[in-house]
Amino acid sequence: MKIAPSILSADFARLGQEAAAMQDAGADWLHLDVMDGDFVPNITFGPPVITSLRPYTSITFDAHLMIRQPHKYIEQTIAAGADIVTFHLEADSPVRETIAQIRAGGVRAGISVSPDTPASAVFDYLELVDMVLVMTVYPGFGGQKFMPEMLPKISGIRERAAQLNLKLDIQVDGGITKDTIAECAVAGANVFVAGSALFGKQDYAAAVAEMRAAAEF
Ligand code: DX5
Ligand code: ZN
Repeated sequence: MKIAPSILSADFARLGQEAAAMQDAGADWLHLDVMDGDFVPNITFGPPVITSLRPYTSITFDAHLMIRQPHKYIEQTIAAGADIVTFHLEADSPVRETIAQIRAGGVRAGISVSPDTPASAVFDYLELVDMVLVMTVYPGFGGQKFMPEMLPKISGIRERAAQLNLKLDIQVDGGITKDTIAECAVAGANVFVAGSALFGKQDYAAAVAEMRAAAEF
């Protein structure tokens, strides 16, 4: 199981210190939400910020690209220091080629599905990726309400991966809190992104520990 705080809810003026603090607090990965104001109605940051952040922490950088043309930015994202690169199936990039590009960069590859995309859409790619990210809110903003109707999608993907004998990571992102994490874990998720529920707290270590405990069932 992995806890991946999303820096979308961090203080952007102190990102380096915030990233280091989450590593000290026991987080497993740091989730980096890259948004382009086109694929989603919000703009965050891109590879230059990831480059600046990299010296502050050795934590695994989990880049979540919510951008229209991810294939154009894979190389830069990896060069900036991402250890995992996830892009959306709904974006305008050729899926197999983009996965191959990520792999060619020597890092782990993930594909993500927004709420309106069914589980079956990823089935053809399960053997090609390390991770599937199931969005549990519409991508674009932190602090939204968890969508429980995504739970069958998680279990559908977990079942398919098991049938194929794959050790696939299934990540959930959006509205994950100590109250929603357990049902995601039961459904088959093992990587949990949380922005407001972690960076929104005073005591990061306590918040990470509380989430981890809540995910154990
Ligand atoms: C939303 C982002 C999430 C976001 C989650 O589009 O992909 O990673 O930071 O924030 P919370 O945990 O507050 O829902
Ligand atoms: Zn995200």
